[in-house]
Amino acid sequence: MRTIKDIDVKNKTVFLRLDLNVPIKDGKVVDNNRIKASIKTIKYLMSKNAKIVIASHLGKVKTSDDFKDKSLKPVKKELETLLGKKILFSEELVGENLENKISNLKPKDILLLENIRFLDVPNKLESNCDERLSEYYSLLVDVFVLDAFGSSHRAHASTYGISKFIDHAVGFLVEEEVEELSKIKDAKKTVLLGGSKVSDKIKLIENLLPTSKKLLVGGAMCATLLKASGKNVGNTFVEEDFLKEAKKLLKNDKIILPIDVVTEKGIIDIDDIKDETIFDIGPKTIELYKKNIDKRLPLLFNGTPGKYEDKPYENGTKEIFKYLTDNKIKTIICGGDTGAASKKYKFKPYYLSTGGGAALEFLEGKEMPALEIMND
Ligand code: 3PG
Repeated sequence: MRTIKDIDVKNKTVFLRLDLNVPIKDGKVVDNNRIKASIKTIKYLMSKNAKIVIASHLGKVKTSDDFKDKSLKPVKKELETLLGKKILFSEELVGENLENKISNLKPKDILLLENIRFLDVPNKLESNCDERLSEYYSLLVDVFVLDAFGSSHRAHASTYGISKFIDHAVGFLVEEEVEELSKIKDAKKTVLLGGSKVSDKIKLIENLLPTSKKLLVGGAMCATLLKASGKNVGNTFVEEDFLKEAKKLLKNDKIILPIDVVTEKGIIDIDDIKDETIFDIGPKTIELYKKNIDKRLPLLFNGTPGKYEDKPYENGTKEIFKYLTDNKIKTIICGGDTGAASKKYKFKPYYLSTGGGAALEFLEGKEMPALEIMND
């Protein structure tokens, strides 16, 4: 894969695609992890006197109503704070105004474009990887750098299409993510999975099982697996359409499911559930999980075991993080929610991936178009 060090960026105008899709509340960035992770590449480009045009999406943009609360302006402020430098902004994503702003850039200047997905209204130009849009951006700059690992599973104009027309390479963040996730993908490991839907993770589980010593499942998704194993899960949501696939997965005895849970009525053994809803793993399951986390192996952690945001259901997540801290378990975290939980419980992971869906697809072994093209 070509990296930023393999191409000439000195004094060049660079189109830098970042994933600045971060949570925003009341006009303020509430988790700046992805922005922080992008700084190294930006600073490197500045050190080479490059003129930097940054593009990113923010959320899903379906109609013009989304323009109100999906602006990247709050991200501009956060970026300025982190860089200690004023940056320029362009509301125009195409046209003369934008072209002038780019041609007036001086070395080390940074121009942040408005949410690139605003171009999806009405014709999905960005998300459908419009050929003319991809070429248009390539004509405004000299080089394309992809440092949006979180978007590298998307073959969009700004993540993939532009590479067809111009010299391209990945930035430091993509390089690091690929390195760390490749290592954990191939390593012998313990896996701890949570999240709401088992259907989202079937491929992932299948792909990780051969290299996993144990695969522990918590979160709402364990209900479908529990039901497939013949247990009653009361009122907990079950993906009925996936029971057959869940049953197939359970033939592998590396998968470990909860033996007791926390519901709205308190702690209950799995066999005693009647009409309750599962919100967290219970104390016996916490002990069972601890026993099955091999201290000598790295742990891949994606999805919390319980609904930790609600105090009555935080114990499973809290206790597992405490155990990982006390035993210095080398932990690789994927998923924004698990990352936020690790912060809440002051856990320091060995590696925190910025890729949500992208990291999961990478670990599933799926083809990643925006990364594949970087091998050309
Ligand atoms: C993410 O948050 O997973 C990435 O930014 C990708 O967002 P998307 O699923 O809207 O493409």
